[in-house]
Amino acid sequence: MDFLKLANEYKTPLYVYDLDKIKNQFLNFKNAFNARKSLICYALKANSNLSVINTLAKLESGADCVSIGEVKRAILAGIKKYKIIFSGVGKSDEEITEALELDILFINVESQQELKRVEYIAKKLGKKARISIRVNPNIDAKTHPYISTGLHENKFGVDKHKAFELYLHAKNSLFLEPVGIHFHIGSQLSDLDPIIAAAEKIADFTRSLLALEIHLKFFDVGGGVGITYSDEEKINLYEYAQAILKALKGLDLTIICEPGRYIVGESGFLISKVLYEKHTKDKRFVIVDTAMNDLIRPSLYQAIHKVRVYSKNSTEEAQKTKADIVGPICESGDYLAKNILLPPLQSGDLLVFENAGAYGYSMSSNYNTRKRAAEVGVENGIDRILKHRESFEDLIKDELNILQGVLCEIK
Ligand code: LLP
Repeated sequence: MDFLKLANEYKTPLYVYDLDKIKNQFLNFKNAFNARKSLICYALKANSNLSVINTLAKLESGADCVSIGEVKRAILAGIKKYKIIFSGVGKSDEEITEALELDILFINVESQQELKRVEYIAKKLGKKARISIRVNPNIDAKTHPYISTGLHENKFGVDKHKAFELYLHAKNSLFLEPVGIHFHIGSQLSDLDPIIAAAEKIADFTRSLLALEIHLKFFDVGGGVGITYSDEEKINLYEYAQAILKALKGLDLTIICEPGRYIVGESGFLISKVLYEKHTKDKRFVIVDTAMNDLIRPSLYQAIHKVRVYSKNSTEEAQKTKADIVGPICESGDYLAKNILLPPLQSGDLLVFENAGAYGYSMSSNYNTRKRAAEVGVENGIDRILKHRESFEDLIKDELNILQGVLCEIK
């Protein structure tokens, strides 16, 4: 990928996605489960650019959504409604109503109160809501605590005793149809063992439901398959699929997977431009035009994104010294890399952050009234804009209209 040309044409900070790689990653996942009835529901939260979703829709992807906004994005991008699932601990009445009206595949329910709410709204709409219960298997996924979700101390899902009660209730309800079971123990997983343990626990639980004449159709194993940011081991997809199939022995269920990071993570790059260098008594700082509002993962999870250097200076190893790459935001936590070896840099040089396709742009913000970056896709060697950089006017339009209204009234 010609980052210099892309930076020149679209300016920086810039997100670039290799759409061909995204397609390959999706197909790898799909192929790993080929031997079995399966549906890959791409987790939109990782990267919800409509063109990225559309690329996956063309490969028959489904969608895992965590807000009605994501559900609507999935539909707009061409994902079939009957392949969309809606998860999350805090769905509002409006969201549940719209999801039922849109007739998506099912809602992943995460609490007793939510189940009652879905039932109540389905009754009002004269519908029978297809639901799945998210069961919390109480298994340590061994990942960063902020993205670990499968322990009872986490807010997600219900324990198996509560789940049993909820399935019974749903079975006897005129307005609920229990069609699936769901778990998701965490993200950026590099160890298969906790996933196997969770799949086995939930499969056993599913068997126990058969005694109640509850016959589910979908076994939703969530997402979580990690990628290599620095030196993490990668889960072998074939072994992952085999382990899940083995856990399901004897159960005739369609497997649903909700991968996000695995599909888009490695395909994304964030191009930044060096503004200044600054040396204090203790440290060397490289100040770039890109900040924690563009990529918050280093600040939030101490995540590591490897950096490629495109410099007019020599990039000889011998000349490299340790530096922090920092952005213009008014916080000491605003950094993109810490203590990494960099050659001497000058204004205008490019630093490209790898593995930025997942939870990069989708977690970006306008903090410090910074415009969010542009997004570009490259497919068959041809680049095209997927989202323009925001303008200052985009950011203040609504507030300015309100303010001008108030000022008029005062006059
Ligand atoms: N399904 C559910 C219910 C989830 O909560 C998630 C991610 C996924 C699927 C997709 O997981 P993946 O395959 O991408 O690991 N912002 C964090 C990651 C948060 C993940 C939240 N849930 C990060 O930047 O590492």
